[in-house]
Amino acid sequence: MKTWITAAATAIALVLPAAADVPAIGFAKAERPSKGAIVLPVGKDGALSGIARDADRAAKGAIAEAIMTAGFKGGEGQTLTLYGMGPYSAVLLVGTGDGLKSATDLQTYGGTVARGTSAWKSAVNVVVPDAADVAQDAAIAAQGAMLGAYDFGKWGKAAEEAAGPKVTLTFLAPDANAATRAWESDARAVAEGVFFARDLISTPSNIKSPAWMADQVVAKFDGVDGVSVTVLDETQIEALGMGALYGTGQGSVRPPRLVAIEYKGGAQGDAPLVFVGKGITFDTGGISIKPSANMWRMRMDMSGAAASAGAILTLAKRDAKVNAVAVLAIAENMPDGNAIRPGDVLTSMSGKTIEIMSTDAEGRLVLADGLWWAQEQYKPKMAVTIATLTGAVVGALGSDYAGLFTKDDGLAGTFLDAAEKSGESLWHLPVHPNTFKAIKSDVADVKNSGEGAPGASVGAAFLMEWAKEETPFVHVDIAGVAWQNSGNAVDPKGAVGYGVRLFDQVARTYEAK
Ligand code: BES
Ligand code: MN
Ligand code: ZN
Repeated sequence: MKTWITAAATAIALVLPAAADVPAIGFAKAERPSKGAIVLPVGKDGALSGIARDADRAAKGAIAEAIMTAGFKGGEGQTLTLYGMGPYSAVLLVGTGDGLKSATDLQTYGGTVARGTSAWKSAVNVVVPDAADVAQDAAIAAQGAMLGAYDFGKWGKAAEEAAGPKVTLTFLAPDANAATRAWESDARAVAEGVFFARDLISTPSNIKSPAWMADQVVAKFDGVDGVSVTVLDETQIEALGMGALYGTGQGSVRPPRLVAIEYKGGAQGDAPLVFVGKGITFDTGGISIKPSANMWRMRMDMSGAAASAGAILTLAKRDAKVNAVAVLAIAENMPDGNAIRPGDVLTSMSGKTIEIMSTDAEGRLVLADGLWWAQEQYKPKMAVTIATLTGAVVGALGSDYAGLFTKDDGLAGTFLDAAEKSGESLWHLPVHPNTFKAIKSDVADVKNSGEGAPGASVGAAFLMEWAKEETPFVHVDIAGVAWQNSGNAVDPKGAVGYGVRLFDQVARTYEAK
């Protein structure tokens, strides 16, 4: 078997980008700011109400007049920036359309605020509109502001150049203390989990080797209450018989890792939720090599693993009353003299054998061993695989929905409901019995792709072969949503960290039980 060569990513070290230039967040009692820079919500057809109307009065109607002149209609997410309005040096107007309804609407409001004020040099007071059915509106808006302000930065720019928060955003809330508590104990934790995932995903793959990724996880969770991290190296992976994970990593000089992040916030001995993430630190396709166009984006092929890790960070930081484990199956998929070939047969940890039809269908290989190991180790209450698994799901659902696959209708409901609440949308896709037939192999138990069958469902069917009868199992294919080419108010261009918000919501339903 292979002796791994330890190779440095680059001879010359890169200077890490500065920590994301996010706003500093604060809360104060909801009353009309007397001066300075402010943000006001504006309703449909430019309607001003509450504090916004009072502010307009203090500006002697100048704000309302500007709304009229500019033809500002107050559509959701629309903005208008004004300067020198009576006592106010700067005013950002943010449209709320027919009114904000959900937590995701509030996040969008916050993200729009962060983007619209990012160049401002003074502290900003933000008036927060009421969203029906949402508690702690101000904390949720602040969460949206953080998410929307995320910026990975540029390599080579020294940290000092961009250091320090750009702007202080003070969100005005009916009860500032309650808002601060909600922010510190809950809402901020979600943004932290998403940021961790985005940082990992954004890092180029010359730096992001499997060992590097494992090290990042160890460092991040060092000292985090309730969390312990285990890293298995290539020798242990091989000794455990994880032929699929080991084989996938075999073409790289940088060996695979299996990382388990255990969080204990629930009852002692209560079976955990398990998030198994695909952690391909770069996917060239291997010997079944990919075309060169867009291959650069395959540095995000570890987004599932990043989301799983980020979700545990969120649960730990908000002290969630649940037990959960992230299992990261990490390898680099490279073509090489030692790489696996199409036609090869691998033995997975469960004993099931796999005929390799394409070395580019590698995500399901690493997940098969990750999922099996997780079940052996933890006997989970529920297991989910999350992966940038197939181009087919991108064709089917684009960049707005991730694909959801499960035989368990109850779990499908839990996930679809969590998707709705978190704003990370899911669409339930089928796995027909014929799809299982399509991956039967003549020479092994299964093959890793199925001719003529729908690609995203084939990936799901393959993974279901490794889910035990007693494990409630869900698969989420995030190939289309993990990376945004243009971005929106809460998810800037690039790494999304999709899955952290979804898993956080899923965990909440188990906490409530
Ligand atoms: N990482 C890719 C899937 C992907 C495609 C992610 C586009 C993000 C954007 C995955 O490993 C892959 O290559 N899948 C193949 C599977 C096929 C060979 C059965 C695909 O979808 O083409
Ligand atoms: Mn691939
Ligand atoms: Zn891949």
